[in-house]
Amino acid sequence: SQNIYILAIESSCDDTAAAVMLNGKILSNIVANQNIHSEYGGVVPELASRAHQQNIVPVVHQALKKANVDKSQLNAIAFTRGPGLMGSLLVGTSFAKSLAYGLQIPLIDVNHMQAHILAHFIEEPEFTKPPFPFLAMTISGGHTQIVKVSSYFNMEVIGETIDDAVGEAFDKSGKILGLGYPAGPEIDRRAKLGNPKAYQFTKPRVDGLNFSFSGLKTAILYFIQREVKANPNFIEDNLNDICASIQYTIIGILLDKLKLATKQTGINHIAIGGGVSANSGIRQALKDGEQKFGWTTYVPKFEYTTDNAAMIAIVGHLKYLEGNYAGQNVMASARLKI
Ligand code: KG4
Ligand code: ZN
Repeated sequence: SQNIYILAIESSCDDTAAAVMLNGKILSNIVANQNIHSEYGGVVPELASRAHQQNIVPVVHQALKKANVDKSQLNAIAFTRGPGLMGSLLVGTSFAKSLAYGLQIPLIDVNHMQAHILAHFIEEPEFTKPPFPFLAMTISGGHTQIVKVSSYFNMEVIGETIDDAVGEAFDKSGKILGLGYPAGPEIDRRAKLGNPKAYQFTKPRVDGLNFSFSGLKTAILYFIQREVKANPNFIEDNLNDICASIQYTIIGILLDKLKLATKQTGINHIAIGGGVSANSGIRQALKDGEQKFGWTTYVPKFEYTTDNAAMIAIVGHLKYLEGNYAGQNVMASARLKI
């Protein structure tokens, strides 16, 4: 059978990424992080777009070189069409279109949220694990969704956040505590050293499978302001306990919804993805769920959880097999739905 080489490009937010895939296996996976945003405490869209323009040629070049693949060998170019920041998406989209046109090979548009989910099939020889149907919980700085996945391209969002993403809950809490951006990893590290039940934060009341995190952020802000008034060193004195309590609350919110989703759908195979799935507390809670609730859980390799182009490549590969290509008239779509 034919060898299929895919070059994939991801530029939806603040990471410029390129990957080369051969028959569903990753040959190279390059990510250029943009450090410029940390001093602003969040991603600045205009700066992100400009950094993508600077990074895209060297990142693609590096991906091809590391894979030891010449562009003449490529069978298709896959790219992130959306959702994401328009100025960022445009850089990857224009680049992919031009390259596919120049090489006269198929262009494949990829939905970033589907890619976070299908990342589980990278390096899976027959692309059969997780088995369909499964539930995917995509948790990152930009997304919080529970998706019922019936086949590669038959997915249904059954729950999502009505305000902040779960990663924002980590990052905004961290900002209140004076931690750097993004604060998720630091909160995770400190949570291991603290008491998760030191402080109680009420969980938001949202019906069904939807999430809300903005109320939690406000509750944490008021709590900290009140405590600091009484003890100016409150944060420094109790930072690990505060982090552990915040993380415990967030995990509780995610778990409640997962439990409800498995109950409503009868599906016990659960896959997670997105940057927040790196969180050690969440990973542990899922593992515990295998014993407690009879779940089978799937956690992707770390490098495939945060934004990357390998996940775009696997979708490219699966769409290539179906002959599902995009035309040169395809446009970036900031609010693309699953
Ligand atoms: O997927 P990602 O790299 O980018 C997008 O937002 O799409 O996710 C980044 C988010 C940030 O909010 C970051 O704080 C969070 O993932 N994060 C974590 C951890 N590692 C990254 N949150 C909690 N615990 C972690 N270990
Ligand atoms: Zn993402």
